[in-house]
Amino acid sequence: MADDDVAPRTASAYLDPTYWDERFGKEEHYEWFKDFSHFRHLLAPLLSPSISVLEVGCGNSRLGEELLREGVAGGITCVDLSPVAVQRMRDRLAEQGAEGVDVVVADMLDLPFEGESFDLVIEKGTMDVLFVDSGDPWNPNPETVDSVMKMLEGIHKVLKPEGIFVSITFGQPHFRRRFFEAPGFTWSVEWSTFGDGFHYFFYTLKKGKRSSESNCYQPTLPAAPSINMFHEELESEDYIFRTNVDEL
Ligand SMILES: C[S@@+](CC[C@H](N)C(=O)[O-])C[C@H]1O[C@@H](n2cnc3c(N)ncnc32)[C@H](O)[C@@H]1O
Repeated sequence: MADDDVAPRTASAYLDPTYWDERFGKEEHYEWFKDFSHFRHLLAPLLSPSISVLEVGCGNSRLGEELLREGVAGGITCVDLSPVAVQRMRDRLAEQGAEGVDVVVADMLDLPFEGESFDLVIEKGTMDVLFVDSGDPWNPNPETVDSVMKMLEGIHKVLKPEGIFVSITFGQPHFRRRFFEAPGFTWSVEWSTFGDGFHYFFYTLKKGKRSSESNCYQPTLPAAPSINMFHEELESEDYIFRTNVDEL
C-alpha cells in the first residue's frame, strides 16, 4: 500500500509530472495494480530469453528486475517521464549489479525509438493516468481520446511485426476495446482477469494477428458497466485512482 505521504488528495495530480517527481523523491517502491507474482501465470508464457522488452511508465516498480530474473536477455528498456524515477531505478540496478536493463527518460506520447524495435511492450497502470479527468467514461473528452490514441500508435509502431503489447489495467473491455480495436491497428485483442475478485485486467495484443471481424471500434458505447468495485476490496490508492479514472 502507498504511504499516506505520497498519495495525492485528488486524482488529477496524477496528470502532473511534478507530482510524480516529488513522489519518487520520497517513495522507494510501490506496485500499481499488483506485483509480478499476481500475473506471472499470464506474462511468463509470453517471455523467452531472446526477446527485447519495453516497459512504459516504470515508476519505481520492480517489474524490470522480475523480467531479468525470468531470463529475458534480449534487452529490457524501462522508460518514465520522471527523471527522478529513472535515476533512482538506475541507482537501484547498479547497487544490485544487475545488467541488461536500460532506464530512459521518455514521454510515452512521443517514444524515442525506431519502428519495430521491441518484441514485447508492457504498461502497468500507465495508460490509466491518461484517463484521469477524462469526463464521462462512456464518452471520454477529445483530449483523452487523442492522448490514448497517440500512446497506442507509438506502441504499435515500436513493436516488431509479430510483437506483443501487454496492458495491465483497471480498464474494463467495454472501455478499452474502442481504443485497442481502432482502425489502423493490426493487433488481435484478448484479455484475462487476475487479483482477488478479478479486479485487474491483463490485455494481450498480438500485432499482425487481427482478424477482419474484430473491428469493434465505436465512437460511443452503448451498455452500462457490469462490474462494481468497492473501496474495501481495493488497496487504498488503487481506489483513488479508479474513482477518477473510469467506470464507477
Ligand atoms: C500509476 S504509475 C505506474 C507505475 C508502474 N508501472 C507500476 O506498475 O507501479 C504511472 C507511471 O507513469 C508515469 N508517467 C506518467 N505520464 C507519463 C508519460 N507521459 N510518459 C511516460 N511515463 C509517464 C509516471 O511517472 C508513473 O511512474
